[in-house]
Amino acid sequence: MYIGLDLGTSGLKAVLVDAGQAVLAEASAPLTVSRPQSGWSEQDPSAWIAAADAAMAALGARIDLSAVKAIGLSGQMHGATLLDAEDRVLRPCLLWNDTRASQQAAAMDADPRFRAITGNIVFPGFTAPKVAWVQANEPDIAGRIARVLLPKDYLRLHLTGEAVSEMSDAAGTSWLDVGARDWSDALLDETGLDRSAMPGLVEGSEPSGTLRDALAAKWGLPKGVIVAGGGGDNAATAVGLGVVAAGDGFVSLGTSGVLFAACDAFQPDPATAVHTFCHALPGTWHQMGVILAATDALNWLSRVLDRSPAALTAELGAPTAPGPVTFLPYLGGERTPHNDAAIRGAFTGLEHATDAADLTRAVLDGVAFAFRDCLDALAATGTRLDRLIAAGGGSKSDTWVRTIANALDLPIDLPQAGDFGAAFGAARLAMLAAGADVEMTRPAIAAQVAPDDGLRGAYAEAQERYRATYRDLKGSKT
Ligand code: XUL
Repeated sequence: MYIGLDLGTSGLKAVLVDAGQAVLAEASAPLTVSRPQSGWSEQDPSAWIAAADAAMAALGARIDLSAVKAIGLSGQMHGATLLDAEDRVLRPCLLWNDTRASQQAAAMDADPRFRAITGNIVFPGFTAPKVAWVQANEPDIAGRIARVLLPKDYLRLHLTGEAVSEMSDAAGTSWLDVGARDWSDALLDETGLDRSAMPGLVEGSEPSGTLRDALAAKWGLPKGVIVAGGGGDNAATAVGLGVVAAGDGFVSLGTSGVLFAACDAFQPDPATAVHTFCHALPGTWHQMGVILAATDALNWLSRVLDRSPAALTAELGAPTAPGPVTFLPYLGGERTPHNDAAIRGAFTGLEHATDAADLTRAVLDGVAFAFRDCLDALAATGTRLDRLIAAGGGSKSDTWVRTIANALDLPIDLPQAGDFGAAFGAARLAMLAAGADVEMTRPAIAAQVAPDDGLRGAYAEAQERYRATYRDLKGSKT
């Protein structure tokens, strides 16, 4: 048996699979995000440990875990978990969707070495500029930083006592030479750090340590359970979906929105705001367009209207032509294609007759248009996708997936019920680290959602309106 643990933004999920990759049990524990100021997004790392404990206890209550051989880790990327010389947490973790470090990111991005070595823009949500923000604004804390870890690697430190990361997540720090799969001393030096503050590096499919005996005893696992490198949540999702060969891709409707393409070579193109990272398997890379608020945008509307996201989407029928209301989902800034930390969301086209259903429709459309921007950004790098697999909690909404298929003008495969997300991918990486043979199959498909030919023109027109709204809003701010 193998366990995958995915430390997400809204919750931690544990999945148990057998040697034949069948899912035997799942458990999860919720997490909340604190937003002390506009554009800020933080979590207390102790909440991750508590969530892992709760999920493992729930898993153990359902099924005997004494035959577990390995655990794989997946997690929300880019977070800066700052530790002192005794590995004590110095402040809440600045998460992937925290855009406060925009000035520091712009300064680093202006140094051509960052794009040349990492293959990526230095986005404000990446790890290095956030450390620079702490250095500029919280010098007492900055002076005590001995180690910087990504969220799942902090969890690993708790699980194994080892400070280790793996290539896919390390690629989102702005300190990794992504082509060479190694830390860059020059870029670390730019942030006043060196390798002593960085975890060791393994591939996602390699062992990174073993579970501490005390935790094994507490959770009912045997001694010596291997903890695999694992992956950043997007690379781990790709492993779970079998998206590992060039030309394969998925669209993820999670807290963030991700349009992911597997690649067999390192093909960076930072000018497009496309991310180019290591994949979780040796010798492979991937590209992705990332939007900061996908289900997070619908969750925001649900809070404002005081109705659950499911209740809001249930009111909508099959997608028709996009409505007259346009929504920009830039609630905390945007990455692909704008790299714009200052932009904020907007509704335009409101009228007396506008009701909750119109606003929901506009939010689903707006996120779909943001994905189209990502698709065009990927295309500008030469990456073509012919079809996609849907992933993430938001893909349970048939209307939303249909809307995205229309906006992208691409067919989308909906996996059958069952979890082929990041936790499952992490479990596959655990199997590999334990020396098992793992066939990277794709999930069984329940339905193929084809774009509606009759709506192509209407979606293209609405996409242009969406882009013009961003330009207008941007223009009015400069
Ligand atoms: C990827 C990104 C998000 C987080 C969400 O660059 O920032 O997808 O990994 O968990």
